[in-house]
Amino acid sequence: MLAKGIELLTDARTEGRAVPAFTTYTLESTRAICEAAERTGLPAMIAAGSSSFRGAGREGLAAAALAAAEAARVPVGVHLDHSTDPDEIAACIELGYTSVMIDGSRLPFDENVELTRAVVERAHAHGVWVEGELGGLAGDEDSSSDAVAGDLTDPRQAAEFVDRTGVDALAAAVGTVHGFTAVPVHVDFERLRAIVAAVDVPFVLHGASGLDDDELAATAAAGVAKVNVNAELRRAYLEALRDALDGGGDDVPRLQGRAIAAMADVAEAKLRVLAGRR
Ligand code: 13P
Repeated sequence: MLAKGIELLTDARTEGRAVPAFTTYTLESTRAICEAAERTGLPAMIAAGSSSFRGAGREGLAAAALAAAEAARVPVGVHLDHSTDPDEIAACIELGYTSVMIDGSRLPFDENVELTRAVVERAHAHGVWVEGELGGLAGDEDSSSDAVAGDLTDPRQAAEFVDRTGVDALAAAVGTVHGFTAVPVHVDFERLRAIVAAVDVPFVLHGASGLDDDELAATAAAGVAKVNVNAELRRAYLEALRDALDGGGDDVPRLQGRAIAAMADVAEAKLRVLAGRR
């Protein structure tokens, strides 16, 4: 079922879980995310956009994600990830997204506050919750660039940001980066705990690919409510297709099935770790 409302995250916190948000690019990844959620009986989120729209297009990707979430036997949210464009956000709200992210993290603080506050006002009028970001996360959302973490978020500024914007969930820089890195990155747990304590909204961790299971489980234990995963699912997809193609197959549904199975296994493992059910 389509999970509306911030309860998706607040209920997870009450139960000591974090909800994974997996990036989708294709019908296959959308299906894999829902399969994993159903297999585990745990809520999940499909992060459909905004960079994914570059490939599959907004309407098609969104329609598939929304239909798959509606049909799922467990709560599944459909989320707009990393949008910098209020018009795109408005379009996704219109399409039926259950949450959106406004990423003003590259703007000066006061401009980020202004932009985020305006989006919050508009989204709340439609019953849609909003994730804001403070402290830019390094790396590319769609390809691994061996990024290194930049400046990390100041907990006091995070509290001011939440207060002034009215965001429902906060993403902040605590050491992770988007994509895989040659040298593993780690979470600054002291900073993470300080931000979780300083703000009264759910914390969102971006850039979770590459963290090992113990570290990932520790983020949920430290109070993280939502964890974004992309690169590990992307790798599973590409490797499954590559293996199948190397085998010389041209049976497309069979290739799709192998890709879905590979991604669903990765998503299932993340769901279990973040729910403390390894
Ligand atoms: P990874 O690609 O490192 O999993 O990051 C995903 C992400 O944060 C999407 O917003």
